[in-house]
Amino acid sequence: TPRVLSGIQPSGNLHLGNYLGALKRFVGSQNDGIESLFCMVDMHAITVWQDPADLRNATRELAAGFIAAGLDPEKSILFNQSQVAEHAQLAWIFNCVARMGWMQRMTQWKDKAGKNQQNASLGLFAYPALMAADILVYHATHVPVGEDQKQHIELTRDIAIKFNHDYGVEFFPITEPVIEGAATRVMSLRDGSKKMSKSDPSDASRINMTDDADTIAKKIRKAKTDPDALPSEAKGLEERPDARNLVNIFAALSDQSVDDVLRDVGGKQFSEFKPMLADLAVEKLSPISTEMARLMQDPSEIDAILRSGAARAREIAAPVVQKTYEIVGMVR
Ligand code: TYM
Repeated sequence: TPRVLSGIQPSGNLHLGNYLGALKRFVGSQNDGIESLFCMVDMHAITVWQDPADLRNATRELAAGFIAAGLDPEKSILFNQSQVAEHAQLAWIFNCVARMGWMQRMTQWKDKAGKNQQNASLGLFAYPALMAADILVYHATHVPVGEDQKQHIELTRDIAIKFNHDYGVEFFPITEPVIEGAATRVMSLRDGSKKMSKSDPSDASRINMTDDADTIAKKIRKAKTDPDALPSEAKGLEERPDARNLVNIFAALSDQSVDDVLRDVGGKQFSEFKPMLADLAVEKLSPISTEMARLMQDPSEIDAILRSGAARAREIAAPVVQKTYEIVGMVR
């Protein structure tokens, strides 16, 4: 039976890349009626320093973002990673299955550790084994993510395969990444060759889910483009990363294909297209940020939702950890 799991780090602001590459698609999977679990991965967040008060606030704000975007805590299981101890328990087993060399090849590790790897946390290095545990502790079969997480899902598959092989069992499923749609890699508004990210020092490079209408419109107006008019088919965007990014965002926000969008706007100048995009972005995003702000007025309600989500998640995860311990030979 299919089961979906995905997670987002509560570190810094949710941005348009997180929304289009992940969150909006979580809502799609929930509404398709597939059993779905979505978590705030606070244990992943602390692989780099987080101020405790900021972490608490970011976790609640992310939960508010999940709900405001359309995740229903009755239908989906929404929870905070550290509240389900089974993630950490299974992660330890996977630390002993995964190889150092696998971790060393991860591009996210290389990017985040930078030049001074000796000074990076051990948790940052082991990050993908915890991510594999997030997924496999529920025997999840499908993981909706943006393009940048593909390598981590492949590593999750490698861990499942090696565990099953080493212990001679067919226990963990081989998970599929689900990377679909026009916006699996939203790029910086300032540089179409860089991914939109919360760590970019320029706030103008991204649209935050908490930005107000004026800020969204201003960032889109200032977004980098080229001087040419829009082409009438997707092929015409191949060598134009900044233009392609804006069209991809338009397509994803309006639930259309890139070709559909270009059929309407092909031939227009950016001076005409950008206000259309700004209006669309404000129309789609401002109800979410308004609802987030409303939910944040009562954090105790959010905490209650996360507690009940964690209890439901644990019902699935606990037997999987018990069975894993048995397979490994740990006396129960
Ligand atoms: P994180 O928190 O960096 O990002 C959350 C989700 O947003 C997607 N994303 C993007 N998609 C399109 N364009 C972008 N510019 C962009 N930036 C981010 C990410 O691909 C991701 O889907 N390791 C994960 C969190 C994680 C996880 C998991 C995911 C932990 N455990 C288990 C799935 C399953 C991460 O750092 O995502």
